[in-house]
Amino acid sequence: MIFQDLIKPFFVLAPMDDVTDVSFRQMIASLASPDLFFTEFVNVDGLMSEGRDRLMVKLKHSKQDKPIIAQLWGSKPDNFKEIALQIKDMGFDGIDLNMGCPDKTIVKNGCCSALINDRDLAADIIAKTIEGSNGLPVSVKTRVGFNQVDLTWFDFLMQFNLSGITVHGRTKKEMSKVPANWDLIAQVVEMRNKKRPDLLIIGNGDVDSRADGLNKAKTYGVDGIMIGRGVLKDPFVFATDSPWINYSPADKIKLFIRHIELFKQNWPNGERKIVQLFKFAKLYINNFDGASELRSELMNIKSIEQALTILNSSLTSFNDLKQG
Ligand SMILES: Cc1cc2nc3c(=O)[nH]c(=O)nc-3n(C[C@H](O)[C@H](O)[C@H](O)COP(=O)(O)O)c2cc1C
Repeated sequence: MIFQDLIKPFFVLAPMDDVTDVSFRQMIASLASPDLFFTEFVNVDGLMSEGRDRLMVKLKHSKQDKPIIAQLWGSKPDNFKEIALQIKDMGFDGIDLNMGCPDKTIVKNGCCSALINDRDLAADIIAKTIEGSNGLPVSVKTRVGFNQVDLTWFDFLMQFNLSGITVHGRTKKEMSKVPANWDLIAQVVEMRNKKRPDLLIIGNGDVDSRADGLNKAKTYGVDGIMIGRGVLKDPFVFATDSPWINYSPADKIKLFIRHIELFKQNWPNGERKIVQLFKFAKLYINNFDGASELRSELMNIKSIEQALTILNSSLTSFNDLKQG
């Protein structure tokens, strides 16, 4: 049971669609690893359709980004069961159910955060996933309510044999527009203490460093801390002492090159679009003279090779500057 084996407070890299693919997770694992990884969310109905191959790229993982939990979403409980039956053989350590995504189209189709208001379907999805899980732990990642705060949702979730719940301290309506409410996360911890002491609670929302996470774990009583956007500002966010602030432009460019090389190895046949890669320009090519010009140059590139040429030539000029 992966969750129970983790030493508390543990740190988790949040699932971020089109961001936390295997290449990025390998990067983070090599710089300052969290204790647990999640895949991007993957649609079970799509995985049971002809579009399966296209979606399987989201489930690619490796020896480095371990332990790892596959995050699923969808609308048909039977499809959750079918996919859950396959997840263990794919080498995953657990299954997480997305019940928090606020995307309009997804919610309109009754999925993810819409399940907060559709408890019959949520119950069916959880039960069918557990049935298919082959003993793998099943968890839920969710928000503190749909249009308004509704902690009865957690009372409901705590009836099931879940191993963990990740609580993002915002309602669906709040999207990411207001600060995460950690007092509400602490209330869920209180409910857990009374009702399901064995259930792990992971707090999520606005954590931007390990120190911040440790402090929040202590103050609000959560077992684990999940970090999402913080890793897009500091790739060493899980480190005790992040060296990022002292990174030279050349070292940052070298990291981006390493990331691109990993991307190339993982997706040799263009399985993922290179535009996804250039989301990371903001992370690596930032906070130094010439960074914004270099970023604009990268935005227009058409191939990975072209990106590598630009970055290598920029690296040479930084190295020349250092020597000159
Ligand atoms: C670009 C992006 C993609 C996301 N994709 C997912 C996803 O696939 N599954 C999920 O549960 N949450 C997803 N989220 C939400 C994050 O996992 C996390 O809950 C949210 O960003 C709040 O945490 P943070 O303040 O540490 O970023 C996504 C967030 C972002 C910014």
